[in-house]
Amino acid sequence: MTDGTPRRPVVTGLRVGRRRDVAVAAVPDPSVSWTVEAEPGWVGARAVVRLDGVEERELGPHGVLERWPFAPLAPGSEHRLDVRVDGVDGTASEWSPPLRFVTRFLDAPWSEPFLAHPAPTREAGPFVLRRVVTVPADLVSATLWSTSHGVHQVSINGVDVDDHVLKPGWTSYRDRLTVTGTEVGALLTPGAEDVVTVRVAGGWFTERYGFGETARRHYGEQPAVSLRLELRCADGRMVRVGGDGAWLVDPAPALVQSGLYAGETWDLRLEVDGRGDGSEPWLAAAVHPFPADVQVQAADVEPVRVVDERAPVAVWPNPDGTGTIIDFGQNLVGRLRLRLDAPAGTEVILRHAELLQDGELYTRSLRAASATDRFVADGRGPRWVEPEFTFHGFRYAEVRGVPESVGADDVRAVVLQSALRRTGWFSSSDPTLDRLHENVVWSVRGNTLAIPTDCPQRDERLGWTGDAQVFSAAAASLFDVDACFASWLDDLALEQRAAGGVVPTVVPNPLGSFSEVAAAGWGDAVTMVPDVLRDRYGDLAVVRRHAASMLAWVEACAERADPSGLWERGFQYGDWLDPTVSRPDKARTDPGLVATAFHVHSARLAGAALEEAGDHRGAERARALAEQTSRAFRDAYLTPAGRLMSDTPTAYALVLAFDLAPVGRRTVLAERLAALLRAGGHHLATGFLGTPFVLDALLDHGQERAAERLLFQTACPSWLYPVTQGATTVWERPDAIRPDGSVHPSGMVSLNHCAFGAVADVLHRRIGGLAPAAPGYRRILVRPWFPEALRHASVVHETPFGHAEVAWERVPDGVTVCATIPTGSSAEVRLPDRPVFDIGSGTHRWTVLLPPAERPVALGVDDDLARLIDHRGVGALVSAVLREAEPALAEEFDAYIRWVPGRTLRAELAAVAAPPEVVARIDEGLSSLAVPPR
Ligand code: BGC
Repeated sequence: MTDGTPRRPVVTGLRVGRRRDVAVAAVPDPSVSWTVEAEPGWVGARAVVRLDGVEERELGPHGVLERWPFAPLAPGSEHRLDVRVDGVDGTASEWSPPLRFVTRFLDAPWSEPFLAHPAPTREAGPFVLRRVVTVPADLVSATLWSTSHGVHQVSINGVDVDDHVLKPGWTSYRDRLTVTGTEVGALLTPGAEDVVTVRVAGGWFTERYGFGETARRHYGEQPAVSLRLELRCADGRMVRVGGDGAWLVDPAPALVQSGLYAGETWDLRLEVDGRGDGSEPWLAAAVHPFPADVQVQAADVEPVRVVDERAPVAVWPNPDGTGTIIDFGQNLVGRLRLRLDAPAGTEVILRHAELLQDGELYTRSLRAASATDRFVADGRGPRWVEPEFTFHGFRYAEVRGVPESVGADDVRAVVLQSALRRTGWFSSSDPTLDRLHENVVWSVRGNTLAIPTDCPQRDERLGWTGDAQVFSAAAASLFDVDACFASWLDDLALEQRAAGGVVPTVVPNPLGSFSEVAAAGWGDAVTMVPDVLRDRYGDLAVVRRHAASMLAWVEACAERADPSGLWERGFQYGDWLDPTVSRPDKARTDPGLVATAFHVHSARLAGAALEEAGDHRGAERARALAEQTSRAFRDAYLTPAGRLMSDTPTAYALVLAFDLAPVGRRTVLAERLAALLRAGGHHLATGFLGTPFVLDALLDHGQERAAERLLFQTACPSWLYPVTQGATTVWERPDAIRPDGSVHPSGMVSLNHCAFGAVADVLHRRIGGLAPAAPGYRRILVRPWFPEALRHASVVHETPFGHAEVAWERVPDGVTVCATIPTGSSAEVRLPDRPVFDIGSGTHRWTVLLPPAERPVALGVDDDLARLIDHRGVGALVSAVLREAEPALAEEFDAYIRWVPGRTLRAELAAVAAPPEVVARIDEGLSSLAVPPR
């Protein structure tokens, strides 16, 4: 301010509930959140919230998922909320721009019957319902409520009621369904006869789940839909159109067959007038009572939507000339939209795959998912076609049957995901590292479709609890997953209850007793995922809500442990997919050590959650279990000299991350971890359970160099190796495609699996140096790590308090660091050249003097070479020559070049003692690339 008076704080981003994409309260007592923009260092004292312009309540100043301070709201009501804030310095904001919102939850238990095909002739047959509705002449507004055993869309007079895809997503059908409420008044014509059409397919409900021979339809054989249209009239009356026999079923729908794994078959000729040739009469829908024991709740998550559309990067004929191969340049999740112009009866076949082998789509990795869509053309001229109730994971597609060839303008990939808001970004001076980060973004995108999944392409796509546990923090560093994961946790609690306290390995659980096994690292999703939501979103409600489930899980683990607390009996997935072994279930780390470590960790988290929920006795019980088990752990697995009985990187990473060793022994444990990694050539040597923790374990205990060599390793297996092979998503195993181009024989070769992508969170928290230090980033830890391989890095995060950012860049004597802290938050800053200090909100800059050893060896001209190595494949060329001539050197070179990019190429070759004839061949190769030999 020019006159010296401080600027008044401004309240922004007011919302109710967890979602930001709609102004809707899905419960009578939604949380309230807002952010404040104010002068640097401004500290809030209190907030006043006003409902409907009259009632006022005072709240604390933070505005992060605050509890509803008023009486519960009535269903179907409209409201206005305003907030103002006061600062401790006496400044006060104006009232915020008003938030106008509606309540959309049920006023009574749901009982609308299910409508289904009366005489289905096909397995899991999709169907279309239709009904004429007489709209009252004095219609004021209308709400449509709908849910399904399967997936559905409703249209009124031919217009879809919303842009949701695969509605209403997937919940634990036996216990819970979500109903979507949509305002549809604008689509209805007062006084007219309007046509309501409902398209229904089996989706997750009728899918066959299981492995090989055991696969079966777990939930039901046929889809069904349950809906109600509420028409509100000027005189106050409400007309309800529900599920009764007046709904008619199309005898021959154009969507002939639909499956998530299988894909869809459409006969477009049957679309004529929406009812085939009109010769067959529509049938009265079958009406089944709604099951009494299923809870129905208003949907409170971001729906799946089309979030992107991509054009092909290349299109060419397939090897036998029978079709066209399309490359979208990005492995993604969704489906094709194709311009079709073919004579009636022509069958066009669309196949999908993540990979090409010998020029053909490689579909073996999809297992039983045929991922094939078929369209039989109607011959009525060109039109765009797209399947409706399926999705595929693919980068490549093949189109067969089109009379003319398919051009790049004739096809698009439509990307589907739960419509989550992007909240986190990372970039650095290393394009390979940035691409790894981008690959994680795409894998999280592909595995947050309605629920968190393991993979999006083969015949699984399940809510594996272990995968969600492992990638929840990375997902939260990239997207706002609070509502999506909170909803999934509700299903987890229901499935856990049905399994007697054991958290099943998949949620929702369509695998029955197969997944009702207590598996460490999987079941711990019940404690660890709420902990992530608490840290990243300040979501204490989710922690309180699941505190009892956490205790039930911890007790279930204790029952399986021996009296001392060691959990060494029974089945475990263990450190699944340890990259040093071929069999996914044969990790080197002792499964008992892993299980006992997770048991302690979960018992501690459960203790804190129970305390938060006000259950002090429960908390005491959990803490006692944690204490006893950690003692047993130390006695059994930790030697007095600081080694572990299972001498593997995952064992050390877990012990350090979960605080399982006395303080005095941590340094020596970390040294051993670094030594093991060194002995393994700094390759990835941790599976699902160790990978999220290994870099933190090193960085927290002075092993930066080992962390750097591990992270920047490009040879197989490593985080960056897939990037060097052109990966555009994270692979299930880091060696899914081996250096010789062959696919790993283990069968675990999804190219879109998030677990190893847990590293994205480390990039944000450690390289970016922006980490939550109190729930919801109310306090931030600014502690960037400056790997020698990087010249600069930055991270941006939209926290619940607002925009936060940390960026750093090397300068001749060290590094400049710039941090932006949002209003209402504060930060602890840890920089290598000074004692720890605190800052308030606003933008801060420092220059950090680095001791010479931490400066990159050379900056300036040699940077150009570093860039060439990254961009033009010079490094790849050198390592290819070495691999042929001196394989042992190649290995060392790959590791070396990655972590010391500033050095000259000759110095690097000298450092790995390359023989002169090798250097000569490399020089020759370089001149062919038009790079000056050095
Ligand atoms: C899934 C995993 C999952 C695992 C259980 C796999 O088939 O794709 O990611 O966690 O089974 O070990």
